[in-house]
Amino acid sequence: MRTSDRSFTVGLLPQFDASPTPYHAAATVASTLINAGFQEIPESGAFSAVAGSFVVRRGGSLVAWSTSAETTSTTGFRIVGAHTDSPNLRVKPQPDTAAAGWRQLGVEVYGGALLNSWLDRDLGLAGRVVVRAGASARTLLFADRRPILRVPQLAIHLDREVSERGLLLNRQTHMVPVWGVGDSSSTFVDYLADAVDVAAGDVLSWDAMAFDVAPACIAGLDDDFLVSGRIDNLLSCFVAADALIAAGASGPNVPMICLFDHEEVGSVSASGAAGPLLESTVARIGGALGGGVGELARAASSSVVVSADGAHATHPNYVDRHEKDHLIAVNGGPVLKTNANQRYATDAESAAEFRLACEDADVPLQEFVSRTDLACGSTIGPLTAGRMGISVVDVGCPQLAMHSAREMAGSDDPEWFRDALRAFLVR
Ligand code: CO
Repeated sequence: MRTSDRSFTVGLLPQFDASPTPYHAAATVASTLINAGFQEIPESGAFSAVAGSFVVRRGGSLVAWSTSAETTSTTGFRIVGAHTDSPNLRVKPQPDTAAAGWRQLGVEVYGGALLNSWLDRDLGLAGRVVVRAGASARTLLFADRRPILRVPQLAIHLDREVSERGLLLNRQTHMVPVWGVGDSSSTFVDYLADAVDVAAGDVLSWDAMAFDVAPACIAGLDDDFLVSGRIDNLLSCFVAADALIAAGASGPNVPMICLFDHEEVGSVSASGAAGPLLESTVARIGGALGGGVGELARAASSSVVVSADGAHATHPNYVDRHEKDHLIAVNGGPVLKTNANQRYATDAESAAEFRLACEDADVPLQEFVSRTDLACGSTIGPLTAGRMGISVVDVGCPQLAMHSAREMAGSDDPEWFRDALRAFLVR
């Protein structure tokens, strides 16, 4: 087995920092791809029959692919799917609030956040703002990386049993960030108008969310770890984009990546994995090559999806929460995830396909199952399989602290995962 070069993981750090929200993540990946020669097509634009490498974006989601002169309307697809969203705190529509002389910002909890991980952290704000542009509207991205928000934990003197009883956090009452003191006539809308440089009266709406401003880093005594917010699942997104670039259009199938928003809340949205984005893009590629419903079904029948999402490494302090014959190591290679009840979409045939890709890339492969007495998480894999009828395999890089504001993974695994995905895309 060859060793990994951690410089690949070091190269991912600025991509995490540039991507505090799904919209920024889609923009980061799009610019990586465009710099590598991909051409962005507006979703409202026509797809052409001319071979090339293309990107389509919808909000915080993105699809990209490469076709060659040999691609026809019945050519199969090799698709890597992942998600751009992560659990966090999102600003309410009328967020200005106050208590006991503190200025606070009303937030909703998005997805299955580990609430404790948001306490006592330096939080910035980022997202998109829709502003008036004459009689219509336009969308602007913003990211304020100053530590402007905090959710302070209650002092232990006022909560003496916290370590014995466990920390109980109410989403409505205990997670409201402070961002100032005293009275102020300035509102959140004033802040946002300033952030995107428009008049307050021109701010129409927003999707704004908090993020930990601490930059991503390599950590551990021997640099064994990657530490960042949003490793689940930006790590898969960035690795998939790099694999797609490395794959070119050299394989017998169409290599594609599909990065979806809204996985953490069930994927049912216009840009989520249960929405039409992947299906319509695949149909439009075939359609541009003269294919119809029959050709689309033929292409789907020879297609395979890798659903790439974070996998649980075995936690040294909670080994009993893991299945003892399927222990997972960071820096042990990508993880194949199986669940008999189809919380993961992996089956014997799709598993074999990914195992062969790992062999092609000379990359080690680990196998995960949950303890059968613990509920298993899920991801976009089963949804994609159900919607498209395509064979799906669920895989990912091992990590700890999934859904914490700051997660950790191994610093060797990203490059191995990239190589395995590249090998898969060209099969
Ligand atoms: Co995930």
